[in-house]
Amino acid sequence: MLELHDCEQCTACDLALTRQRVVISRGAASARLMLIGEAPGAREDALGQPFVGRSGQLLDRLLLEVGLNPEKDLYICNAVKCRPPQNRRPKRGELTACRPWLDRQIDLVDPAVIVLLGATAVDSLLGIKTGMTQLRGQWLSWNGRSVMPIFHPSYLLRNPSTAADAPTALTRADLTAVQQRLCER
Ligand code: URA
Ligand code: SF4
Repeated sequence: MLELHDCEQCTACDLALTRQRVVISRGAASARLMLIGEAPGAREDALGQPFVGRSGQLLDRLLLEVGLNPEKDLYICNAVKCRPPQNRRPKRGELTACRPWLDRQIDLVDPAVIVLLGATAVDSLLGIKTGMTQLRGQWLSWNGRSVMPIFHPSYLLRNPSTAADAPTALTRADLTAVQQRLCER
């Protein structure tokens, strides 16, 4: 059986050559909600924790707004655990190499609800390449778990409109639906 902490010594793909830290998770392993992002960025690579840069700060703010405590109510991780150089998107082989660690995390946390942050997380978990504009806000089902794709927070940072139909407002609505689903399940 794969031990999650062995991930820290993993060299299964070339991202091991350039990383500073393996970035596994933050939040609560007992949570009923799991969020999956793409890959660590510079700050995550330096600190060894996911979503601690600008994207993470925006995400935490939105989660708090809908009544979800990022420390207690969820477990957050990424499709790949090591930073890709220049923050490029992870390659297919890297997603595949890292998938056993993601599966181990899902087994350990056993979440009722999984939120996929952006297209890479959707591709990694489900193998679906449909655009996020179509997918976001839709409930999917995977291995008995409710799964919702939402926009990646870095997309919200690049599209900062506060209009009611803009990405940030749509994401707030999606996270509200997630919070409600957790109350129902
Ligand atoms: N973006 C991600 O997808 N993950 C992180 O941990 C930080 C930024
Ligand atoms: Fe291993 Fe994943 Fe890091 Fe690649 S990205 S070295 S598979 S932990």
